[in-house]
Amino acid sequence: MPLYRRLLAFLRPHWWRLVGNVVCNVIGTALDGAAFILLIPFLNTLLGADQVVPGGMGWLSRLMNALVLPFIVAGDKRSSLLGVIGVMLVLVVIKNVFLWMGGQIGASLQERLTRDLRDTVFHHMQRLPLGWFSRTKTGQIMARILTDTEQAKAILAEVFARSVMNLSQIIVTIVILVRISPRLALISLVIAPLITAVIQPILRTLRTGHRTLRNEYGEITSVLQEVISGVRLVKSFQGEPYEDKRFSAASGNYTRGMIRITRLSLLSGPLTEILGTVVAMMVLWFGAELVFSKHMEGGTLLTFMTLVMRLLPPLKQLSQAPTTGQQSLAAAERLFEVLDQPTEAQTDHGTRDVAGFTGALAFEQVSFSYGDEPVLQDISLTARRGEVVALVGSSGAGKSTLVDLIPRFIEPTNGRITLDGIDTRELTLPSLRALTGIVSQDTVLFNDTVRANIAYGAAGRYTEAQVEAAARAANAHAFIEALPDGYNTVLGERGTRLSGGQRQRIAIARALLTDPPILILDEATSALDTESERLVQDAIDRLLAGRTVFVIAHRLSTIANASQILVLDKGAVIERGTHPELLALGGAYARLAGLQRAEP
Ligand SMILES: Nc1ncnc2c1ncn2[C@@H]1O[C@H](COP(=O)(O)OP(=O)(O)O)[C@@H](O)[C@H]1O
Ligand SMILES: [Mg+2]
Repeated sequence: MPLYRRLLAFLRPHWWRLVGNVVCNVIGTALDGAAFILLIPFLNTLLGADQVVPGGMGWLSRLMNALVLPFIVAGDKRSSLLGVIGVMLVLVVIKNVFLWMGGQIGASLQERLTRDLRDTVFHHMQRLPLGWFSRTKTGQIMARILTDTEQAKAILAEVFARSVMNLSQIIVTIVILVRISPRLALISLVIAPLITAVIQPILRTLRTGHRTLRNEYGEITSVLQEVISGVRLVKSFQGEPYEDKRFSAASGNYTRGMIRITRLSLLSGPLTEILGTVVAMMVLWFGAELVFSKHMEGGTLLTFMTLVMRLLPPLKQLSQAPTTGQQSLAAAERLFEVLDQPTEAQTDHGTRDVAGFTGALAFEQVSFSYGDEPVLQDISLTARRGEVVALVGSSGAGKSTLVDLIPRFIEPTNGRITLDGIDTRELTLPSLRALTGIVSQDTVLFNDTVRANIAYGAAGRYTEAQVEAAARAANAHAFIEALPDGYNTVLGERGTRLSGGQRQRIAIARALLTDPPILILDEATSALDTESERLVQDAIDRLLAGRTVFVIAHRLSTIANASQILVLDKGAVIERGTHPELLALGGAYARLAGLQRAEP
């Protein structure tokens, strides 16, 4: 099965831990069997049989002789029993040392494997195209990376490591049983196929059940994530009862699924037990015959019987292993679903590296659609080096989509975008993205220092002086200096909170520092009050100098000086020109300008 094989690939780097775990377990169970088999001489001594160690059992007789003969004192039953007990005790202690070592190695194997899975999925996920993120709910993504990796690990914990132990215990026991009495062993072994036949149909249903369950868990995480990130919205619209309903619906679905699955998986235990007892009764019946006909000592039958019963727990666990396995496989399937999505690098066919551009960035009859829904239609524009292109239009007109095409977050459905005449699809993604910088409305600050936030992702590349120069140019230096630890103040989730204007200026400093020749401002100033807008605007003017800029803004004051203004409506350019030209045209732009002039 390919899924198993793919999981095994993750095991490969840890093969020696795996081998260590198996070896320790096999040695442990062999010692366990040896200790157990000493029940035969013990019982025979106790019951006063003719022979303490029965002959005719080949290597088994020799093993027993080697282990206990030195401790058997002729005519002194008590000393002999004590000797046998002592040997058993020593064997059991050594066995447990091995099992402990095996457990240690197994645990470190599991944890490392989970770590590898987690890291691999995260690494891959980050590199998936933007489209995947808008298709997939954040909660589902989080569930995959955090819980699914944990679940997938169980395949090693529960299934693999324990199965190795169970299997070696079963094999050791069977070898002993066959050596004691091949005929009785044969009777007792019908149990294995019986258990498999009963349990298999249950397992098949479980796998699909677990898969649905993982998705339902992801739904819970989704609601959770949406409420936490939108807590202001929820509170202001008094959406708590609505969210309660959504959460309990998801939570209830999960619980029902879990109960359904548990009901089914708990069946396998009792079924195994009943089958096992039936077989044990058969052994007792036929074994009694052997004892009556003096083919077997009573002590040997008792030991045999106990051994058969001891076969049950590992058999039961082994038959349940696939159940747990199904759960892990369902989680693994979801992980591999992420890993199977091609990353941007995998779908990127660009081969040319560019360091800059001299001529122009041009859209040539570009259309774009999400699925069947056209978002941009037949857009053509040329932005020469150093020009500012402004995009205006109502919300949903496609402005953000248009600028997303430039760094190839998404790719045109039709037409092409060229840089100095070269289709941007021929450029390598890293080199294209190094040319573009983005400042958008919602500035993300990472839970790190101001300095690290400005030099995001390239801490070592810029000197402190460079970071400060960028902050100065962004009108951010003054307020950063006033923070408790200046540039070393921690921002973000659990750090100092900044105002919208301050966050925006950090974002501008970020863009100034990397100094990209193409800059995208997507409503960078729309959320600001007048005072911070003046500071930000001032910073933006500095940012614009010498760059090709695409600016999306609601306030026309921001764009009045643009080299060209494009008015978008329902994905199409309906007007274009300079501010005076468009005003003179008396169309949509002029109406918009009129509206804004009427505002206080
Ligand atoms: N990930 C997406 N999937 C489907 N449709 C989308 C997606 N993102 C945006 N859209 C649609 O594309 C259109 C343009 O959106 P957008 O470019 O964000 O508009 P603007 O930035 O002008 O407000 C809208 O109708 C929006 O519903
Ligand atoms: Mg937008």
